[in-house]
Amino acid sequence: MARIGILTGGGDCPGLNAVIRAVVRKGINEGYEVIGIKNGWKGLIEKDTTPLDLDSISGILPKGGTILGTSRTNPYKKEGAVGKVVANYKALGLDALVAVGGEDTLGVATKLVKENINVVGVPKTIDNDLSSTDYTFGFDTAINIATECIDRLHTTAESHHRIIVAELMGRHAGWIALEAGIAGGADVILIPEIPIDMDEVCALLKKRHSRGKTFSIVVVAEGAQFKQGSIVLQEQKLDEFGHVRLGGIGEKLANEIEKRTGYETRVSVLGHIQRGGSPTAFDRVLGTRFGVKALELVSQKKFGRMVALSANKIIDVPLEEATGKLKTVDPEYYELAKVFFG
Ligand code: F6P
Repeated sequence: MARIGILTGGGDCPGLNAVIRAVVRKGINEGYEVIGIKNGWKGLIEKDTTPLDLDSISGILPKGGTILGTSRTNPYKKEGAVGKVVANYKALGLDALVAVGGEDTLGVATKLVKENINVVGVPKTIDNDLSSTDYTFGFDTAINIATECIDRLHTTAESHHRIIVAELMGRHAGWIALEAGIAGGADVILIPEIPIDMDEVCALLKKRHSRGKTFSIVVVAEGAQFKQGSIVLQEQKLDEFGHVRLGGIGEKLANEIEKRTGYETRVSVLGHIQRGGSPTAFDRVLGTRFGVKALELVSQKKFGRMVALSANKIIDVPLEEATGKLKTVDPEYYELAKVFFG
């Protein structure tokens, strides 16, 4: 019986359990044995695994997070870890490995192809910043949560005649801020792809107030930066993949708005709420479709590939194509959002 391993790495997101369930269900149907590797690449370095059968995946579809746990471990940043990954892959008798992750986890997967690991990638991230796929699962849930939060901020901002700045996640791409901002009817949306022009932001808010509105909602992506200024960080330390910890632009922006306009301003940082809880139906379906396709790729021995969504079809693309370049917001799309500014 062929044996497949599955791991989830990087930041968790809603829909991971849908993928695990799909890989196990389809795998068992086709006569595979499926082993869960705990906590991303860390589990393969430490040979920390759990068997996955029908019982272990029962009831997990609506659950957020990942039943396998996750980590931001990079074997390429730890002495001897790549050797351990390769040795444990062999020792566990794995014939293939399904790696579910974002640019970091899949970046490692891409390199492991050269170590003769039969890997298939599944793209996840709330940030939706992976190339070669129209959407990653987790994103739809994140924007729905963020939209609900923006709706809630509207009622309190309106009652108190305030500006509320909502800081959203998304790392260096503005997808979450843009789509939640459009869906939530934000009055200004600021994303990393377009530097913040404070004169323009204040002019928009004043214009809105001059037509009788006494409140506004400003959505800002955590990775956005002022025209003259640098990215705002929570701490200087880099993680094992060289990422900074973003956060704090909302506070700076709120202070600047209040100072320049005189309008009372508050800030609300949504943070990990965007990543928690139950996946939307869209993310459950996308995760399920990705998981089934990943198993098909394993059966066809199409390794070094990533499943992807393209024009509502599930396709497969080379792993390196997906991880080579970040997918950022097209400025044309931002123009659409601007119609509703001010
Ligand atoms: O990549 C997903 C994400 O939620 C980003 O939007 C955010 O910048 C980062 O992860 C936060 O990471 P952590 O969970 O390590 O704080």
